Amino acid sequence: MNYEQIHIPVLLKETLDILGIKGDGIYVDATVGPGGHSAEILMRIDSGRLVGIDRDQDVLAYARERFGNDRVHLEKGCLSRLKEVLLSLNIREVDGVLFDLGVSMTQLKELKRGFSFLSETRLDMRMDTAQKLTAWDVVNRYPEKDIERVLREYGEEPFARRLAKAIVTHRRKHSSINTCAELANFVARVYGRRGKRHPATRTFQAVRIEVNNEIDELAKGLASALDMLKVGGRLCVISYHSLEDRMVKNFMRDGGREGLLRVLTKKPVAPAYDEIRKNPSSRSAKLRGGEKI
Ligand SMILES: C[S@@+](CC[C@H](N)C(=O)[O-])C[C@H]1O[C@@H](n2cnc3c(N)ncnc32)[C@H](O)[C@@H]1O
Repeated sequence: MNYEQIHIPVLLKETLDILGIKGDGIYVDATVGPGGHSAEILMRIDSGRLVGIDRDQDVLAYARERFGNDRVHLEKGCLSRLKEVLLSLNIREVDGVLFDLGVSMTQLKELKRGFSFLSETRLDMRMDTAQKLTAWDVVNRYPEKDIERVLREYGEEPFARRLAKAIVTHRRKHSSINTCAELANFVARVYGRRGKRHPATRTFQAVRIEVNNEIDELAKGLASALDMLKVGGRLCVISYHSLEDRMVKNFMRDGGREGLLRVLTKKPVAPAYDEIRKNPSSRSAKLRGGEKI
């Protein structure tokens, strides 16, 4: 798979403008993915360095092939462990950190990874395939109250209770829900109607967030990034759903109140019409930036 052709980096120019890359700076792309943002950062540094982190072994292997040079360190890890990764490389402070959250198109399109509605493969959704918990476990092993919590908290699903009850009843009376397509069709049947978006969109988001512990990851990652930035260093976060964006917004607001950072984006930066037209999966992106003071 040619990852560069499949995943188009989102809000690229806007992100680089906020990061304000310095040629001798040290930058961290903590969600390096296929390397769309990293490639542009690298073009702007000369004596500086780039640390790329991702929890997905496959995508990291691709990035390793793409950027085989001594200014780039690529590490398998979680963004919550950003500080440990940097300290292990003997880096004590950095000029900029980027989080481009969620999954890449390469992960969504690789049907065997079990992220997509269309996939006839087993529910999976793990970004790190070495991890134990999968989407199948959440859907087929979690008690009803936990499924309801996941759907309500992470999917902001208005029918969380009804869906959780229906899933558990189905499990008891019939069989487990094994594939992504089965789950998508099951949710559509419970909904009984279709709007603009597939009715299982919120369910898939919620289960993916649970499987990958994304909320906790983000909370720890933000704190870790601020800790490792030098004064004047910049933090950029691109998020794709309101739950994440709220966390980033509150983190920046609180940091501003406590005199730890200056918020650089009073309102989140969203993709222009032209970007959404060329890359529809960018439509929900929101970029926020801050500078450590
Ligand atoms: C939207 S993609 C990044 C795309 C990249 N900026 C580009 O333009 O090519 C997000 C990437 O972050 C990784 N990721 C998501 N959450 C992570 C976490 N908590 N720790 C480490 N990597 C994470 C995913 O595996 C995925 O490869």
